[in-house]
Amino acid sequence: MKTTIDNVPNLNKAKERKKIPTQFLYIDENKSNHDEYFKDKRFFIRTYGCQANVRDEETIAGMLCGVGAKRIDNEYDADIIIINTCAVRENAEDKVYGQIGNLKNIKTKDRKIIAICGCMVEEPAILEKVMSMFPFVQLYFGTHEIYRCLDLIYQAMKSNERIVSIESKQGEVIEGLPCQRTHPYKAYVNIMYGCDKFCTYCIVPYTRGKERSRKFDDILKECKQLVDNNYLEITLLGQNVNAYGLDLDEGKDFADLLEAVAKLGIPRLRFMTSHPWNFNKKMIDVIAKYDNIMKFIHLPVQSGSDEILKKMARRYTREDYIKLVELMRKEIPSLNLSTDIIVGFPNESDEQFNDTLSLVDIIQYDSAFTFIYSPRQGTPAAKMEDKISYEEKSKRFKELVKHLEISISNSSKKMVGGVYPILVDGVSKTDVNMLSGYAENNKLVHFKGDVSLIGKIVNVKIKESHTYSLIGELTSE
Ligand code: 5AD
Ligand code: SF4
Repeated sequence: MKTTIDNVPNLNKAKERKKIPTQFLYIDENKSNHDEYFKDKRFFIRTYGCQANVRDEETIAGMLCGVGAKRIDNEYDADIIIINTCAVRENAEDKVYGQIGNLKNIKTKDRKIIAICGCMVEEPAILEKVMSMFPFVQLYFGTHEIYRCLDLIYQAMKSNERIVSIESKQGEVIEGLPCQRTHPYKAYVNIMYGCDKFCTYCIVPYTRGKERSRKFDDILKECKQLVDNNYLEITLLGQNVNAYGLDLDEGKDFADLLEAVAKLGIPRLRFMTSHPWNFNKKMIDVIAKYDNIMKFIHLPVQSGSDEILKKMARRYTREDYIKLVELMRKEIPSLNLSTDIIVGFPNESDEQFNDTLSLVDIIQYDSAFTFIYSPRQGTPAAKMEDKISYEEKSKRFKELVKHLEISISNSSKKMVGGVYPILVDGVSKTDVNMLSGYAENNKLVHFKGDVSLIGKIVNVKIKESHTYSLIGELTSE
């Protein structure tokens, strides 16, 4: 198959941060010029990775549905198959290789378009590997090309060529694209895109471009629509939500935005992710002040060692982090705190790892995500010497989880006997006789109840606690 290269990713361009104002592009109509082609086409999308990817999937699905295509949930019957990928760690990447490999047999059957998009293909080395491994994939597009995806799909289909359209750039803010929401009462709202922090292990600033905020009023308009449509929960999304607005000249920051959205009256307001570096007292005060802002903060620490934090370019010390958490807990006594931690950063010594263990013991997290360091080609950390074996890293990982589980299960235990409002998500994944949903503090709760309660907020009395979930009973208390 002939390959047409529109653009290929370039890591040097991806890390450029020129001081130029962000371009805002307002699109009022979802048009492809090829509506006839898309009418009656069936499409399938699978997404890997973070909430930003989930939100991208909603845009792609919205664009396709907007021109008459129909979403289906099996790839066998689909005319257009889209795999939306994640590059943050190697295991996310491996899952995608497995998934694409499985598509090979499907592709030979008839004329289907298989497209790979998202963060993985923004990485030149990975793109090269995927292209050589899977010659039947006909379209590659990056995170910056989503708004053009209808044209790209059509072009790939008509030309019967392989098309690569992945531009590494700082990126614009594109407004007005349609969105087919995954959830009927919980919504993700992007407040900003990209990242300028360049933590030395992380590929995200290269794949998603510069940190750029949406305009205050555009975000409020989207949130207002969700409130008007009876949504119960909004999660404001960004790689570093507390940097919101700093790149605009609107004179508004994250605290202002959070307050304005809370005032719209959405029953539950969440946000993620927060970087400890610029989380300030004004933000903490707003979270404390509004009952509908959930008392849950995801505050990745990554390491408890000052030396490793420095090598990671995290911009704070262990002491800064502890002080920030103390302030948060003082102002928001019911706060639940979650984090991300990486073990086995290049040449992390036993002592440095022990600093992470001791930090975890001091902070007493309510929940946590833990990762073994995974080198990402093109990032500074991938070039650092690393003499620590994978076996040693795995051993440390297990030890860290043991420490974390003590505080996580203690924090769950404390909920036993209490009554908590639960937003009911659906039938429990582990027991079909139970419903499940999240408490305001983000703890997962299972309880017996009728499926008619799905999508409602109900009071549940907690009877039993496990490390990662709780069991309760419906109550009118
Ligand atoms: N290796 C392991 N974990 C990583 N993360 C980001 N990059 C890497 C990497 N190269 C983790 C960080 C981040 C979370 C989303 O993923 O902990 O907060
Ligand atoms: Fe990656 Fe660091 Fe940016 Fe988070 S803040 S997305 S870890 S570079």
